Amino acid sequence: MAVTELKKQRRYKDDFPIFSQEMNGQPFVYLDTGASAQKPQCVIDAMNDAMTNHYANIHRGLYAFSQETTAAFEAVRPKVQAFIGAKSDNEIIFTRNTTEAINLVASSWARQNLTEGDDIVLTRMEHHANIVPWQLLQKEIGFRIKVIELKSDGTLDLDSLSTLITKNTKLLSLVQVSNALGIINPVKDIVIAAKTLNPAITTLVDGSQAVVHGSVNVQDLDCDFYTFTGHKLYGPSGVGVLYGKQALLNAMPPYQGGGDMIETVSFEDGTTFKAAPARFEAGTPAIVEVIGLGAAIDYVQSIGATAIADHEKTLLEYTVKAMKDLGGITLYGDVAEKAAIISFNIDGAHSSDVGMILDQCGVAVRTGHHCCMPLMQALNTDSTVRASFGLYNTIEDCDKLIEALKKAKKLLG
Ligand code: ALA
Repeated sequence: MAVTELKKQRRYKDDFPIFSQEMNGQPFVYLDTGASAQKPQCVIDAMNDAMTNHYANIHRGLYAFSQETTAAFEAVRPKVQAFIGAKSDNEIIFTRNTTEAINLVASSWARQNLTEGDDIVLTRMEHHANIVPWQLLQKEIGFRIKVIELKSDGTLDLDSLSTLITKNTKLLSLVQVSNALGIINPVKDIVIAAKTLNPAITTLVDGSQAVVHGSVNVQDLDCDFYTFTGHKLYGPSGVGVLYGKQALLNAMPPYQGGGDMIETVSFEDGTTFKAAPARFEAGTPAIVEVIGLGAAIDYVQSIGATAIADHEKTLLEYTVKAMKDLGGITLYGDVAEKAAIISFNIDGAHSSDVGMILDQCGVAVRTGHHCCMPLMQALNTDSTVRASFGLYNTIEDCDKLIEALKKAKKLLG
């Protein structure tokens, strides 16, 4: 999409009430969608409606409001199924977020399936959420963690797959779109390559940033598990999704015990468990948040994944060019296949000083290691500035970022 075309299209920003606010006396330029997206009015309204007009606990009450809330909650499951192309809505488990989804797989599937002589493969660009759960379990079981390293442009060194994946490799767990760099990994090809090298391997894909910036089809990817989180997808925090192939889920032990996941409980005979997804949803779930996630999916689908991806690509290319024209900026992961996430440093300046100057200009970015310390190590830095775009960003936002960077360069460069 050309910049002139983007300028003419409907301002998605007007759907988000927060943009009527100023930050530090300046129009609010939000470039931290990678950390959490802002919420459109329709999501706020859906959550407000659930709490104002028919709130009750779900799956438990015979009375009308409980039935209505249960229906509103359960209607989101097939919505998520269609959104990510799952075969059945029984494959959709609501979790707190991606972190909990990965911990669920580690605690349940991996504890049941991994032994000391096994190994698992991760990548250098994983978020800590896809590293630490495995390290915690490794301490208990003693399997080996292998890492797909990066090439000099920041992309994964996929040639190493053939040596890393062996008959002992039980799991490949990797991110689809890097939260710190925006690089899009060719996950479908990677899954094919992994399954060719070891047909028994299980694959998990962290799609937290991927579902936000483009369309996803888990059957096409043929991964075994897929996760994403609601709050990065213009929905509320406190709700995420774990997709798992049905047979795999039903062979896994429960993750947490409690109400709603059991068939029968007896002191004498023990407990039997429901099939997935209920087996993995112990206790009262995030009822209102799941309903909000449903509204967020409706919202992004009303615009369309292709339109969102085109819009963001235009913003990305425009901003990267302007940053290169400015000079004195090191860009990380500046490759063709990437989502609208720009990681950079102003040469000679620390990222937090840059972040503070940008804040004074009304521009919100994230600075630091972005929960990717092993990645930062490979990039030879302890931190970067990250500008991550959402569907509400405009060319004016990009211009404001560039103006603020000029100011930061002048003060710090
Ligand atoms: N994972 C989030 C980020 O990338 C919080 O900022």
